[in-house]
Amino acid sequence: MNLLLAWPGNETLAQKLGHFLSVPVESPVTRRFPDGETYLRLGDVRGRDVAIVASLDRPDDKTLPLLLLADALRAEGAAGVGLVAPYLAYLRQDRQFLSGEAVTSRTFARLLSGAFQWLVTVDPHLHRYHSLGEIYSIDTAVVHAAPEIAAWIKSNVERPLVIGPDSESEQWVREIAGAIGAPYATLEKTRRGDRDVEVSIPHIEQWPGHTPVLADDIVSTGRTMVAAIGRLAELKQPAPVCVGVHAIFAQDAWQALVAAGPARIATCNTIAHPTNAIDLTAALAAGIRKLV
Ligand code: R5P
Repeated sequence: MNLLLAWPGNETLAQKLGHFLSVPVESPVTRRFPDGETYLRLGDVRGRDVAIVASLDRPDDKTLPLLLLADALRAEGAAGVGLVAPYLAYLRQDRQFLSGEAVTSRTFARLLSGAFQWLVTVDPHLHRYHSLGEIYSIDTAVVHAAPEIAAWIKSNVERPLVIGPDSESEQWVREIAGAIGAPYATLEKTRRGDRDVEVSIPHIEQWPGHTPVLADDIVSTGRTMVAAIGRLAELKQPAPVCVGVHAIFAQDAWQALVAAGPARIATCNTIAHPTNAIDLTAALAAGIRKLV
């Protein structure tokens, strides 16, 4: 791979990756026509192996322009076109829960697999799929944020108690906590609606004097963390540090989380956000190097 293209909003990460991989970084010219259609213009890509850096939060706005860009790259003679999508969208609908529902994860995977030769992402939210290979027909590499999260907690939090969002996260929080010799727990969570979450935190009293660290792979509505902060306060625990991999922060989520009173919020730089504090550049570069 010898050219990185930064999708708008991904310039900082693309520059870091370019520096790390010693690869030039360019930005395609993109704009919207008044009617909403996308205009794109590329530099000279003939014969070059190109990777687009585009995190896929807010995917409905980005996907068609991204597919147009991949197609334009091929038309202009690029030797290869890969995708670095630190956050990969459309994994939630992985089966029909109700008859007639679209299994959008499959459709989305088919669209990206038709446009790109390879894909690198960070901690995709796989639920009922065991791997991306079940739905993506291209080469994929998955980067894990746990080692960098563990290192960040170790240098920033005194006597941490790592708390995962639900029982399914147990293996993940165990890995983070194990890497730094910290105890861990998982929330018992009931989600009644997108913004209606209730949690309990079993047996937390056995770790007095620890700082709770709420660690989650995705912060979307923020309601999981807000509910956990409220519960910790009821249990007279210290305000927690909130750590997330993917800082989606849908709509008012960031304000709601800040208002809940965490000690600090730190996210990985998979989605550009003011809370980014955990740098995954090296891990992503290693993921890219596995494929190209
Ligand atoms: C659930 O499976 C995930 O790990 C997160 O806990 C969830 O996506 C967080 O969502 P929200 O921020 O909307 O509560």
